[in-house]
Amino acid sequence: MDISRLTQRLAEAGQSHLLQFWDQLSPEEQADLVSDLENMDFKEINCFFTNAMKTSTQTKQDNVDTRMEPVPREILGSVTRDRESLKDWEEEGLHCISQNKVAVLLLAGGQGTRLGVPYPKGMYDVGLPSHKTLFQIQAERILKLEQLAENNHKTKCCIPWYIMTSGRTMDSTKEFFSKHKYFGLKEENVIFFQQGMLPAMDFNGKIILEDKGKLAMAPDGNGGLYRSLAANKIVEDMERRGISYIYVYCVDNILVKVADPAFIGFCVRKGADCGAKVVEKTNPTEAVGVVCKVDGRYQVVEYSEITLSTAEKRSSDGRLLFSASNVANHFFSLPFLKDVVNMHEPQLQHHVAQKKIPFVDTRGQLISPDKPNGIKMEKFVFDIFQFAKMFVVYEVLREDEFSPLKNADSQEGKDNPTTARQALMSLHHRWILNAGGHFIDENGTRLPAIPRHGPAGTHTPDGSQNLKDGTDLPIKCEISPLVSYGGEGLEDLVKGREFHPALIIDESDVHEQVRNGL
Ligand code: UD1
Repeated sequence: MDISRLTQRLAEAGQSHLLQFWDQLSPEEQADLVSDLENMDFKEINCFFTNAMKTSTQTKQDNVDTRMEPVPREILGSVTRDRESLKDWEEEGLHCISQNKVAVLLLAGGQGTRLGVPYPKGMYDVGLPSHKTLFQIQAERILKLEQLAENNHKTKCCIPWYIMTSGRTMDSTKEFFSKHKYFGLKEENVIFFQQGMLPAMDFNGKIILEDKGKLAMAPDGNGGLYRSLAANKIVEDMERRGISYIYVYCVDNILVKVADPAFIGFCVRKGADCGAKVVEKTNPTEAVGVVCKVDGRYQVVEYSEITLSTAEKRSSDGRLLFSASNVANHFFSLPFLKDVVNMHEPQLQHHVAQKKIPFVDTRGQLISPDKPNGIKMEKFVFDIFQFAKMFVVYEVLREDEFSPLKNADSQEGKDNPTTARQALMSLHHRWILNAGGHFIDENGTRLPAIPRHGPAGTHTPDGSQNLKDGTDLPIKCEISPLVSYGGEGLEDLVKGREFHPALIIDESDVHEQVRNGL
């Protein structure tokens, strides 16, 4: 194999070390390495590195922190403060959906490092009675929403679902959807596309080898979205389908109201080109970004980039000053998204994350460093807020809409499969109560609406043992998204009835009796 041209390109880019083990590689490994390297634009990558390092140092020196201002009231809509408008907003959103104007776009290219599973996070089963995965729950919410919009407006409609994957998640995601027959959605309305990858680099800008013939590569962040929309001609596909509004969200929130009609309707009524959904941040160290204004422009200051003293600031009412937690649900109008893709994307800077990146040293030994030895470069999806002409923020209740799956059960006590499962069951329990149903224990006594905090060793409402002192014990209750999108339509099934947990309501119950009902 003649690699003289490649050798020359690498030398010019200061990356010659990538071929240092060339003679020790098998012909297949050599071919793989060449194909990886030939597809790379080293000039661009070096430039990304220089700019990212510069921006990262500047951000620290500039103290973005000190120039942050909270979101002003006039751009804020709230499910609690604006109750009288909610119905209107929801109807507006459903109308847009019925007109085929709404698409959803899922960011699912992450590696799920903290959760620690070798497959895409959307395929995770958090242990609900139905064992539905995150992908299935989201697909069924889309199906139900189409049905609600169709019933309201007496016209057939479709919400196309664009799914961004990465080199690491594409094949398994596609296989999973195909195996599950797209969870009842039409295959042509589920559109997969792949984001880009970037090499990890050491602090001197040298690309890291994770093996003798393999570069350490990672997806280029969820803001890699905009570049990949262009590369895959997704905006053109949206235009062809007549889409006007796009609901962008992250894969890991079990409570996500995919294509939330109220949020869409709120943004549309306000004439917004860009919107963000938030919940109130109550703990200064929670790993969420906060929506705010810096130098007159809207942005999210990420949890990794805010100082503790700023995060801890409180307003006169005792609440956190920067309390608008980004739940990674965004609204974009199509013209806005088009401008970002065609004009603004190159202005988005990569953020730098210092990481411990396993590498091979000059002797070919694999080393797992115990302190950060390099960086990963990522663009963030929300960095385009700065280009919005009319930006709005929509505040919802955490217990109704936000319970992300980030960690494994064994790691941290929060944002894990147990908390996700419990959040969903507790929401569904409240839906039953709101619809006039009740839960009773084995003696016929009504169970309290608020889950018990049982001491260790006592029995939980579903009969299992309470293992930890003070653990929240939600009643086992799961309602299929195919039955109810947001708590609607349950009265006929549960009003005035009493149930023993566990209660599971799925589509078959809509036609028959709800199982377990007394
Ligand atoms: C994200 C938000 C944070 C928010 C929090 C709420 C970003 C940059 N940060 O943080 O402000 O408060 O969620 O839970 O959005 N992804 C890709 N490609 C990538 C990397 C990630 O598609 O290269 C996707 C993931 O699959 C996931 C989403 O982006 O769906 C969020 O990624 P994750 O790394 O979990 O973000 P957080 O750091 O938790």
